[in-house]
Amino acid sequence: MRILVTGGAGFIGSNFVNDTVRDRPGIEVTVLDALTYAGSQTSLSSVRDSANFVEGDITDADLVNTLISESDAVVHFAAESHNDNSLADPGPFVQTNVIGTYTLLQAVREHGVRYHHVSTDEVYGDLELDDPAKFTEHTPYNPSSPYSSTKAASDMLVRAWVRSFGVQATLSNCSNNYGPYQHIEKFIPRQITNILAGARPKLYGAGKNVRDWIHVEDHNSAVWRILESGEIGRTYLIGADGELDNLSVVRMILELMGKDPDDFDHVTDRAGHDLRYAIDSSTLRNELGWRPRYTNFREGLQATIDWYRDNCSWWEDGKVAVEARYQSQGA
Ligand code: NAD
Ligand code: TYD
Repeated sequence: MRILVTGGAGFIGSNFVNDTVRDRPGIEVTVLDALTYAGSQTSLSSVRDSANFVEGDITDADLVNTLISESDAVVHFAAESHNDNSLADPGPFVQTNVIGTYTLLQAVREHGVRYHHVSTDEVYGDLELDDPAKFTEHTPYNPSSPYSSTKAASDMLVRAWVRSFGVQATLSNCSNNYGPYQHIEKFIPRQITNILAGARPKLYGAGKNVRDWIHVEDHNSAVWRILESGEIGRTYLIGADGELDNLSVVRMILELMGKDPDDFDHVTDRAGHDLRYAIDSSTLRNELGWRPRYTNFREGLQATIDWYRDNCSWWEDGKVAVEARYQSQGA
């Protein structure tokens, strides 16, 4: 089986490629990645000799068409993925997330290639803090930010291409991931690397917002399960029952790194900040038998802290620029 992995040099995509090469020797992997600020070939250094790498853009129809004509399946991770950036400059989000997905869909349609679309629970908007409800496959779409609205648009394109053109696609909407190789602009790695660099963690607003954390390896094992056993046209929600408010996460990071749990700064809150995300993954568990491996967030977080401590060279060069950008936004 030959699979094309878009965005394979990013956080989740590189973990997917590394795990696939390690665990599934029969699979031939080709990565298509534009190497934006969020992509790094260093994240793929352990598979340099076993996976093919093509530097290119998913909006390049000729390139996409050629690569898909040589593939049996496509797993589509490539995206502009950070909410804060989408508020500062939405253009690249429309281009990559919407036009890029359209370009891939036209090619898989042309060549009859199996397609899996990786998306986010943020397409559903947010939940109240005191509401026991969780997102299900039936929750209406109600995205809040330019990021989540372009992901929602891309999901809708996939559904339409399945229904109108018979494209062989599945979709997944996952909650917030953590783990190795996550860009240091994101919440958890930003705080870990701040502490490692001698700076204080930065909490948006009061820190009451809740995210539903899942380890990246569990996200990717679910993607594989859906790719192999999912029903064409279906959407699966991926989550590991990891709800925690941001204040608790910051305090836990500080504590695990041997610091005073109150040693952080409150900074300007994000505009339109979604309150709470929570996933009901019972369909995936009951119908496809998937289970997460990382059920203890504290242990997964400790392993992630250790990874950033042991791999300073992976993130150090970009740290000053990321913090300068945040500082200019009051964050
Ligand atoms: P990321 O920002 O770390 O990586 C994105 C990758 O896509 C980078 O390697 C980048 O170079 C590449 N890319 C960007 N634009 C491209 C283009 N036009 N052509 C080719 N490559 C391009 O993102 P991530 O956190 O790994 O997210 C991967 C996918 O998972 C995204 O679709 C995201 O919406 C989804 N997702 C992420 C999370 C999360 O918590 N990070 C949760 C649920 C779903
Ligand atoms: P983030 O990692 O950007 O993911 P998302 O916006 O997709 O949920 O942020 C996770 C949560 O952490 C979100 O509620 C915003 C908050 N946050 C902070 O409090 N401080 C920070 O420095 C960052 C980057 C995020």
